[in-house]
Amino acid sequence: MTTTTNSSPGRVDPATLNWKNLGFSYVKTNGHVRYTWRDGKWDNGVFNKDFDITLDIAATVLHYGQSCFEGLKAFRMKDGKIRVFRPEVNARRMQKSCRAICMAEPPIDLFLEAVRRAVAANVDYVPPYGSNGALYIRPFVFGSGANVGLSPATEYTFMVLVTPVGEYYAGGMGSPTKALIKHKFDRAATYGTGTVKCGGNYAPSLAPTIEAKKKGYTVMLFLDAKENKYVEEFATSNFAALTAPDANGKRVYVTPKSGSVLASVTNRSLCELASRRFGWEVERRLLSWDEVKSGNKFTEVAACGTAVVITPVAEIHREIGTPKQKQHSSTVPTASADDPFGFDHIDDDAENDDISLE
Ligand code: COI
Repeated sequence: MTTTTNSSPGRVDPATLNWKNLGFSYVKTNGHVRYTWRDGKWDNGVFNKDFDITLDIAATVLHYGQSCFEGLKAFRMKDGKIRVFRPEVNARRMQKSCRAICMAEPPIDLFLEAVRRAVAANVDYVPPYGSNGALYIRPFVFGSGANVGLSPATEYTFMVLVTPVGEYYAGGMGSPTKALIKHKFDRAATYGTGTVKCGGNYAPSLAPTIEAKKKGYTVMLFLDAKENKYVEEFATSNFAALTAPDANGKRVYVTPKSGSVLASVTNRSLCELASRRFGWEVERRLLSWDEVKSGNKFTEVAACGTAVVITPVAEIHREIGTPKQKQHSSTVPTASADDPFGFDHIDDDAENDDISLE
């Protein structure tokens, strides 16, 4: 692998970092790795110290959203070694994402090599053992080939950037957060791309999350798009709930299974721990909102994912809209601050449906 020269400023000196208070911001490191797929094959990749990319203005990522990403972490262990958590699982998930939106897939070995290379070149940015921080690894693939018609690109770029991170939500695992289920917003359609990690699943959650934050909620929780009945996942992460311990200390770990939930590596690992380490029942199944809000069934709910780790959720508030009689109008509905997509067919005098786990 060759190394390109550094032409862009911005690298942060790791000696200046406050490891215990990193938050989840982007800190520029020594560089990233970049591979290109052209004429049916991936090249050997470069380590790049430049933070900018040059892209054709007709690149399919810019117009048709051909992009997917992964998130995984490298940790500094007690013995001083650095270990990456389950990278093969991310590699396979990325292949699935690429297939879903017709992009060239990085082979598993290439993905692992890229991750190893990116981490090795940035070891100084791996937070020290005991700081609660990690080196966040963000592999991503996008259509860098130019097309104006809607068809897959003929060139793809695979990159891995890394950045040191701490807690995603302020307070992290020790600080329960509040979630909002907002009417008028779905995350992913039943036969859409919900099960893969493409960029297009995340951008639509930005507007409702901004609205939710204004109302004091940290994170959006989505129900299924078809019936608005089943819990799917948070904007950032999967949903998991625990029953109270029975007389033998056993609990049941319940997490939604549907055709539109992303298979979280963290959630999968928690399922394995719950079952193998603790001997608890694990249920991956349709989980209705009614069951969650019923009160005493679940004593703990958490958002789980690589970035959010396991964030306890103390309260979930659901806004419910009621269908409004269709208005006859010759004009197309327009967007407003309260109706950002112009879908003014649901009554804003929403009823509310709350659950508090405190
Ligand atoms: C991750 O947990 O790694 C993700 O990609 C989620 C993202 C919203 C930060």
